Amino acid sequence: MAMTRAHWGSRLGFVLAASGSAVGLGNLWKFPYVTWENQGGAFVLVYLAAVVLLGVPIMTAEILVGRRAQLSPVPAFEKLGGGGWSAVGWLGVAAGGVIQSYYMVIAGWSLWSFYQCAGWSLGGYTSPADGAFGEFLANAPLQLSLTATFTLATAYIVWRGIGGGIETATKIMMPLLLAILLYLLGTALLMDGRDQALRMLFLPDFSTLRASSLLEAVGQAFFSLSLGLGAMITYGSYISKEESIFRSSVAVVALDTAVALIAAVAMFTIIFSVEGLSESLSGSTVGMLFVTLPELFYTQMPGGVLLAPAFYVLVAAAALSSTISLGEVVVSLFIDRMGWTRGKATLVATGVVFLGSILAALSVGAVPALSSFELFAGKAGVLSTLDHVAANLLLPLGGLGTTVFVGWFLGREDVREELGAFGQSAVFSVWLWLVRVVAPVAITALLIAVFMGKDFS
Ligand code: PFF
Repeated sequence: MAMTRAHWGSRLGFVLAASGSAVGLGNLWKFPYVTWENQGGAFVLVYLAAVVLLGVPIMTAEILVGRRAQLSPVPAFEKLGGGGWSAVGWLGVAAGGVIQSYYMVIAGWSLWSFYQCAGWSLGGYTSPADGAFGEFLANAPLQLSLTATFTLATAYIVWRGIGGGIETATKIMMPLLLAILLYLLGTALLMDGRDQALRMLFLPDFSTLRASSLLEAVGQAFFSLSLGLGAMITYGSYISKEESIFRSSVAVVALDTAVALIAAVAMFTIIFSVEGLSESLSGSTVGMLFVTLPELFYTQMPGGVLLAPAFYVLVAAAALSSTISLGEVVVSLFIDRMGWTRGKATLVATGVVFLGSILAALSVGAVPALSSFELFAGKAGVLSTLDHVAANLLLPLGGLGTTVFVGWFLGREDVREELGAFGQSAVFSVWLWLVRVVAPVAITALLIAVFMGKDFS
């Protein structure tokens, strides 16, 4: 089976597809609003530390496992480590399903923003009334149909398979998205609120940090980089033997982090520049991506009339390339493990995940019983609860499993060989130390601290 496994069509194919998985709503939707909720500076610093100290090594470790085994996560762990290790793979599949279920809902919002922007571009812009976003969230039929549309689009591309769908889609959209984002950033930096935004983002105030925000920063790093659930193991199983795993990892991490920071600077600047916006956002920062940017496009930016709808198409595309990778984790398991056809695997996976999506879609405002309960402090409703459990618990646990596996159980020579020239370099021992010691200890300590309710401030 390994011999016939499909591979990416070009050298860049892997980096593009992996960045397609990494860059998504985690950067454009989640990073800005979670950073806002955690009051900026110190949170951003912890996030950056997590990206460098955990993100790069774990990304490398996951791709390594995938390429070594030439299989999706569950059978990959089984083949390289024996039966018990497949638990790490299963945990990842569960996390993938959970994330997919609510991710589809937010992704659906980008379709709605596109539709709204198209209307504004044709008919002139009017600032939405206070509470307009809340009404949108509470509209059950609309939420369900947007979520369903997104689910079908994902299923279609996953069903078409690696290369044909994923690689082509990312090759076109990534550069476009980056170009518009840079233009957005340039425009935002000319606005009055710039200094306040930069101060909030980059001047750390450590008194705001609690153990839970540290874990949230780490969880966000995993989420944004698509780590901890085997997405990069799956993609790594399609990477060619000639490519440098370490260099690819660094490229993906750098691009992903740049996109998140650019998005946050732009959104924070708008919030501080436009009168009344920070008040009207205060109840629902979760919609930041969809509420703030139209202001910038339509009131400040030359050409914004054309770029606004284009931007939300690209947000949808970025989300799609992430949902595809989430779908691929589950579908490739069914294919590798059960011997199902891609069609059957896609159908079953999509159906199961959509059941979760229905609950998540109705939990943002339509059904009070689904939106009001609070299992974790500050995370009310199905969508926030699923997000919290997946990003801040399942992904760090998956990352922990992967680092312990690669650091302590996979043969040192196997690891070296798979890493090629990097495996012989001086940086390799730093990498190995991060994988063996720093990452496992940091993740374990944080999980314990949060469970014991430890507050550092
Ligand atoms: N990294 C994606 C984002 O930032 O939107 C989300 C994601 C995709 C997480 C794939 C995990 C994953 F396996």
